[in-house]
Amino acid sequence: MEYVLVIITSYLIGSIPNGLIIGQYFYKVDLRQFGSKNIGATNAYRTLGPRPAFWVFLTDALKGVAGVLLGQYIAGTALAELAGGIGAIAGHNWSAFLKFKGGRGVATGLGVIAMIAPKVTLIVFGVWAIIVYFTRYVSLASIVAAALVPISMWLLHARQEFFYFGILAALFVIVRHRPNIERLLKGDEPKIKAGGTPES
Ligand code: G3P
Repeated sequence: MEYVLVIITSYLIGSIPNGLIIGQYFYKVDLRQFGSKNIGATNAYRTLGPRPAFWVFLTDALKGVAGVLLGQYIAGTALAELAGGIGAIAGHNWSAFLKFKGGRGVATGLGVIAMIAPKVTLIVFGVWAIIVYFTRYVSLASIVAAALVPISMWLLHARQEFFYFGILAALFVIVRHRPNIERLLKGDEPKIKAGGTPES
């Protein structure tokens, strides 16, 4: 019962669409109408600029942190923390408040792994940053970083449940990057540059 409570509550927290709220409330811009149409920090950066992107990133990452803390508080086991983290990522990606549409789960996922596996976080963030620096494709960096989560867990001999969590979290993130993967394969994926004036 405690686990069900953890998953439902973290899913609802994860469902809060911070990018949409920040865009609409402070900038009168619906991120779903511009750029990649995604509600995450990358599209906030592209459409609105660095400052709103920072806030979207931070608040989305905090949803992942909250999911893990909920697991800790309600059930107090490592498995419950992982369940809370997965719930938060699922909520972000398939939001209860957006008719089960949502974001890609990258910032929320980062918040989760920062809590449960700091070394893995350093590795995947480092690789993400290097790929963004050299290619300017944030989506490519995110896909590779997501795949690296279970691999790093395995290489660092994390407990089995962390490894399985890594596989599920990576799948959640990669599945939501389907439009990006299609654009990358066609050579149409835009390289990242800071916006300020929304372009559709
Ligand atoms: O974190 C999301 C990023 O990997 C892709 O975002 O807006 O280019 O689809 P976007």
